[in-house]
Amino acid sequence: MRPVAAKLTEIDNRTSVGHSLWLTPCSGWEEQPEPGQFVMVALPHPPAGFGREVCDAVPMSVAGWEPGRLRLTIKDLGPTSAALLACRPGDMLAVTGPLGHGFSLDARQPLLMGGGVGAPPLLFLAQQLAASGIDPVTLLGGTTVDEIFHREEFPGIVEIATDDGSAGHHGFVTELLDGRSPDLLYSCGPEPMLVKGLEWALANGIRAELCLERYMPCGVGLCGVCTIDRQLVCQDGPVLGSEQLEHSAEFGKVVREAGGVVRHAPA
Ligand SMILES: Cc1cc2nc3c(=O)[nH]c(=O)nc-3n(C[C@H](O)[C@H](O)[C@H](O)COP(=O)(O)OP(=O)(O)OC[C@H]3O[C@@H](n4cnc5c(N)ncnc54)[C@H](O)[C@@H]3O)c2cc1C
Ligand code: FES
Repeated sequence: MRPVAAKLTEIDNRTSVGHSLWLTPCSGWEEQPEPGQFVMVALPHPPAGFGREVCDAVPMSVAGWEPGRLRLTIKDLGPTSAALLACRPGDMLAVTGPLGHGFSLDARQPLLMGGGVGAPPLLFLAQQLAASGIDPVTLLGGTTVDEIFHREEFPGIVEIATDDGSAGHHGFVTELLDGRSPDLLYSCGPEPMLVKGLEWALANGIRAELCLERYMPCGVGLCGVCTIDRQLVCQDGPVLGSEQLEHSAEFGKVVREAGGVVRHAPA
C-alpha cells in the first residue's frame, strides 16, 4: 500500500492539548475505513520551525469518515504530533491506509470505554453503531477535562471521569465499570486502562475488543516492533479480542519502544 497525498481542509474539536484534522486524500479512499483502523500519517514538508526531529510517519486512528474525507484527532505528545497540529488548511500531508483490523459491529448493548486519545476511534465506532440503530453507552476518561476529546459528539449516554476531578467522576474511568452488564466492551486508550477493562470483562463473562496503541514505526508488518506475543499489532490488530489477550505474557507487561528496545511495565 502506498502513501497518498491528502490536503488538510478543516480543523475542529479544539482542546488545549490537540484538535481534529479533516483531510481530503487525492485518491484511493473510495472504501470506507472500519472503526478501529488507523493510518500512517507523514509530513513531507513540515511547517516552519520543525525539522529532522519529525518522524517519517506516525500511526493515527481514524476518528471519522465521510465520502471523500477523513478525520484524525491528534494530541500534542512529541515532535511529530506537534508538527501535525501546527499544520493549517491547505497544507499537504501523506496518508497510508486504512490499516489493520477494526472493531466488529456485533454488539446489541455495547459499552465503550476510552482514555485520552482512545476517544477518537470510539467516536467513529459510536457513530457507526448509532447509524445501525444502537445507542451506545460511553465512558470517557482523562487526566483532566481538557484531555477529553469529542465529549459533545458521542451519540447515546456519555459519562466522564477525570484523575483531577475537573469533570465527572473524580478518579479512573475504569471505576465506572462496576454494575454494568453490556454484551460487549469496546475500549481504546492507555494499556493499564485496557488491562483493567479486560480483567473486568473476563470476571463478568463479557467479551471485550481492545484497541492497542503500541509503538509502531512502520505500521505495515515490516519491522516487528509492535509485536505482542506472536501477534503484530499493526496487522493482527490494533483491535484484538479478549480471547487473543486473555493468556498474553506481554499485554500490560512488556512494551517495545524506538529501535525495538524492550521495557517492562512497573508491576
Ligand atoms: C494504532 C495507533 C493509533 C493511534 N491513534 C492516535 C490518535 O488517534 N491520536 C493521537 O494523538 N495519537 C494516536 N496514537 C499515538 C501516536 O501515534 C503517537 O502519540 C505519536 O506517534 C507520537 O509521536 P511524537 O513524535 O509526537 O511523540 P514522541 O516524542 O515520539 O512520543 C511521545 C509518546 O508517544 C509514543 N509514540 C511515539 N511514536 C509512536 C508510534 N509510532 N506509535 C505509538 N506510540 C508512539 C512514545 O512512546 C511516547 O510515549 C496512535 C498510536 C497507534 C499505535
Ligand atoms: S509497526 Fe512495524 S511490524 Fe508493526
